[in-house]
Order: sequence, then C-alpha cells, then structure tokens
Amino acid sequence: GVAFLDGQYLPMSEAKISVLDWGFLHSDATYDTVHVWNGRFFRLDLHIERFFGGMERLRMSIPFTREQVTEILHNCVALSGHRASYVEMLTTRGASPTFSRDPRDAINRFMAFAVPFGSVANAEQRERGLHVAISNRIRIPPASVDPEIKNYHWLDLVRGLYDAYDSKAETALLLDFNGNVAEGPGFNVFAVKEGKLSTPAIGVLAGITRRTVFDLSGELGLDCNAVDVSVTALKSADEVFITSTAGGIMPVTKIDGGLIADGKVGPITRKLEKLYWDKHE
Ligand code: PDD
Repeated sequence: GVAFLDGQYLPMSEAKISVLDWGFLHSDATYDTVHVWNGRFFRLDLHIERFFGGMERLRMSIPFTREQVTEILHNCVALSGHRASYVEMLTTRGASPTFSRDPRDAINRFMAFAVPFGSVANAEQRERGLHVAISNRIRIPPASVDPEIKNYHWLDLVRGLYDAYDSKAETALLLDFNGNVAEGPGFNVFAVKEGKLSTPAIGVLAGITRRTVFDLSGELGLDCNAVDVSVTALKSADEVFITSTAGGIMPVTKIDGGLIADGKVGPITRKLEKLYWDKHE
C-alpha cells in the first residue's frame, strides 16, 4: 500500500503519526473510505462530499481542495499498483504545538492511503449468506448523533463483534436507543418484506452504499424506506442484507441461529447485488 502524509507519498510502513495526535488520543477525527474495483473508483464524489461535510461540522480544515484530495487518492492508487483497493482519506484534529487542550490550537492533519482490497464478506459468505448475531448493545451514533459524520468510534461495535463471535456468529448488529436495529461494524442493514425494503432510520451512519440501494430500488421499481426496524421485523423478513463500501451488498441468511425465511439468499438481494456490481463496470 501507499500513503500520503505531510505532503509526501510513502510506503505504508513509513507513514507514521505522533502519539499526541488527537485522532489517536480522543478519536477526534473524521474519515471516509472508497472502493476501487478494476482500477476505478466507485462514487468517489459522494465520499469526498461526506468527508468535507464531516470536517466542516467538526470545524477542521485542511490545505487541500476537493479536487486536490481527489488527485491525491488517484495517485495513492496508481502508486500502489493494485487493481482492487481499499482507499481511506482522513483528517485528525492533530496536535497542539504547545500541548494546550484547546482544540483551536491543534494543527489539523490530513492523510490518505490505498491498501489491497479487504472485503467485509468472503466469497463463501457471499454465496451462502452471513450469519449475524444481534447484540444488546446500543450503537452510539458517530460523533454525537450526527449521521453525516464518519468517525472511528467503534468501541460499541467491537464489543458487539466479540458478543457475536461468542455465539458463533460472523458479525453483529447493534441496537438504537429504542431497542430497534441500528447498524453493525462497518455496515448498514436492510430487510425485504413482501417486495418492500426498509432500513433503520436512526442510530446509523448515512452510508453511501445504503444510499445506492435506495437508487437501485428506485430503478427496480421497489419501495424503499428509512424507518424503525424492530428485531422481530428483521428476523421475520423474507430477505436481509447488509451494505458497506468494503463489500457492497452482502446477504444475511441467519440471525441469532435462526434462518431468514428458508435460509437461502433471496431474489431481490441477488438482483440488487448484480445491479450494484454492474455499476462498477
Ligand atoms: N464502513 N456504518 C458504519 C459504522 C460504517 O463504518 C460504515 C462504513 C457503514 C457503511 O457506509 P458506506 O456504505 O458509506 O461504506 C455504516 C467503512 C467502509 C469501513 O468499515 O471502513
């Protein structure tokens, strides 16, 4: 992989930041990830927009424009030489030269990197569908309940993952403050019931793949809504799938040990999955 840090392109092993950086000490950072497939970015403009929006809300600024960040990401991918990459752009609060605790004194730090692609689901899981456990833990939505800010707050998600592994599931779904389903470690979730799609409205990141599913459902003439999704509704759905930049649309066929419908990947999930990958061509 290749990183861009302090104005330079570096091999990943040489890209280092200070332990005093607030991104590391306080999770005071925002980031975005983009997917490169066949050497091409997918919906890069939307990721750049969310990234700059997050920085603005967090009152961070960097000495690069959207166009320059786009160019830096392209350069990281080109220099790394991989056709399939996981690309990340991030800005941390940085550190204050005087060790002051005033965030206004910190020098914000932008960095980016491209590493070989690592998907949330492997080929076998995509074929048979993922096995998910619902954790009782509440997902604290990123950066103080702002669904538009993508932040590294993952303590709840990581604890959920351990819960899932303890019950032999492969990944986890957490709940919102009302006990409805929210999101999982790096993905949003959808239920399909009688041809209609629904996805949790609150307690989640406004995912770009989630948004893409709204677009694709529209193309297929299917109803798709952001609403409360109860645990019961999810478990009794005809089809369930999760969405992430790092994996696209991925089927779920088992929740808490119980099968979703007949336990086979459903036709709407397969159709959406195909449309999604077709868009990458
Ligand atoms: N994760 N929810 C959380 C908490 C996420 O971290 C992510 C993305 C999503 C899905 O958002 P999108 O469709 O925009 O990728 C939802 C990134 C890909 C990651 O794990 O690095």
